[in-house]
Amino acid sequence: MLAQIKDTSNLRITFTCVDGYAPNMNLSKVMEHEGYLAVQDLDQPEGKDWADSLANKFRPYYLVWQGIGKTDETFAWPYGLAEIRIASFIYDFADAYPLHDKAAQKGFALYQLHCMKCHSINRVGGVMGPEFNYPKSITTYWEKEDIWNFLRNPQSYRYSAKMPALPNLPKEEFEEIYTYLLAMQGKKPRE
Ligand code: HEC
Repeated sequence: MLAQIKDTSNLRITFTCVDGYAPNMNLSKVMEHEGYLAVQDLDQPEGKDWADSLANKFRPYYLVWQGIGKTDETFAWPYGLAEIRIASFIYDFADAYPLHDKAAQKGFALYQLHCMKCHSINRVGGVMGPEFNYPKSITTYWEKEDIWNFLRNPQSYRYSAKMPALPNLPKEEFEEIYTYLLAMQGKKPRE
């Protein structure tokens, strides 16, 4: 069925997981590579799908890629994958996209890669972490420096923080992401 869709360049595929993690990828990219929905680890004994420590995390599906390194951040490896949605970029992401602001669009692309799988802007994105723009923009109640320091080491702010540290995000990329967050201050969801 997917092979019959001729132009996939504007279509996004969003993988929604039971824990609220929701990475998205360009559909063309997905179709050009070999992804599998894993339901079982074949090394487990008869009658078991996953090792006990992973079973609750990995069911119902775990998306894995053939021949792709785990360090390539542009590929998502969601586990606990429960829903797959294909929609046009603008249909799904309009509320989070700075349509008339070129500088912020650069930041959006980086935000989409690094943050959107867990955070939402105007209710678009993952729900594992908190919303950043609706009703109040995070830029109005968190200092820029705190956002930067938090993402590099969340546990230095909250011992119980569930956000994985992102110590390798370049400062320039954060600046772009922050420009995007600021630009979204005045843009709220369509009713
Ligand atoms: C794998 C999921 C994940 C990713 C990716 C992620 N976050 Fe988070 N983030 C969380 C969770 C969960 C929290 C809630 C606090 C915690 O860690 O317990 C959080 C909290 C935060 C907070 C604190 C906000 C508040 O009001 O409590 C900031 C700031 C933040 N994230 C920034 C970012 C930025 C910027 C990015 C991208 C560069 C990012 N996060 C990527 C999961 C994530």
